[in-house]
Amino acid sequence: MQLLDGTACSQQIRQEIAAQVNELKAAGKRVPHLAAVLVGNDGASQNYVAMKVRDCEEIGFNSTVIRMDENTSEEELLAKIDELNKDEDIDGFIVQLPVPPQIDENKVILAIDSAKDVDGFCPENVGNMCLGLPTFLSATPNGIMELLKRYDIETEGKHCVVLGRSNIVGTPMAILMSRNSKPGNATVTIAHSRTANLKELCRSADILIVAIGKTEFVTADMVKEGAVVIDVGQTRVPDDSRKSGFRNVGDVDFENVKDKCSYITFVTGGVGPMTRASLLQNTLKAYQRR
Ligand code: GUN
Repeated sequence: MQLLDGTACSQQIRQEIAAQVNELKAAGKRVPHLAAVLVGNDGASQNYVAMKVRDCEEIGFNSTVIRMDENTSEEELLAKIDELNKDEDIDGFIVQLPVPPQIDENKVILAIDSAKDVDGFCPENVGNMCLGLPTFLSATPNGIMELLKRYDIETEGKHCVVLGRSNIVGTPMAILMSRNSKPGNATVTIAHSRTANLKELCRSADILIVAIGKTEFVTADMVKEGAVVIDVGQTRVPDDSRKSGFRNVGDVDFENVKDKCSYITFVTGGVGPMTRASLLQNTLKAYQRR
């Protein structure tokens, strides 16, 4: 079993981007600027945004965090998005999801200018991805593709089961894995909570990508010997033995699954850092396009 080290891979990507930022600075040019909107007090979201800002600082991007109250109305958030769409100084921005229940997530995604949508969530960018046209690829699926690429994992002709069908992970993941590209060219099945014979289906996967949002859902009996297992899940569960009071648990029962795998990611240092690296790549692209 080999652990897929997202921390090391993302570090490489950050260094590559930092080198480009240094060239911009040396030429006296402006540097890329990413903004993140954080609505409410969700602890995990606050942490994700803090890490995204830290990444920007490390590689020399400018960053701005816009914090909005838990009770922010949809109208107020849409007005802020409009402001960011028009802000000449900002190359790209994200609205950290989920947003509080009084706000319609789809309206948020539709309001973001596609040229600044560095999450790659809006219809134009998703459509471009489906057509194989240049676009901002959704950060988590693209991060996973980078991880597969940098470890030179063969995907062509393999059976890839994507567990989960969300707009931001499962669905774009399936499209990228089935595209005529490297990595790609896999035969993909999207599975979800209503899939029949889920255990058998997962056991037929050469590559199993899990984004179902249920802790330790994938057990050893669902994994084929030698499979590549990518765990996107990250749920905070209370843990009094930790200073933070919680620990992150993935969608895969790592301890019992790991020895069956050729490659596997761990809940920390796996997909998360790669997602953040993709966001930086997209922000640089947004800057370069202007
Ligand atoms: N929430 C969980 N993942 C993401 C992501 O990639 N982007 C945004 N904006 N919110 C998220």
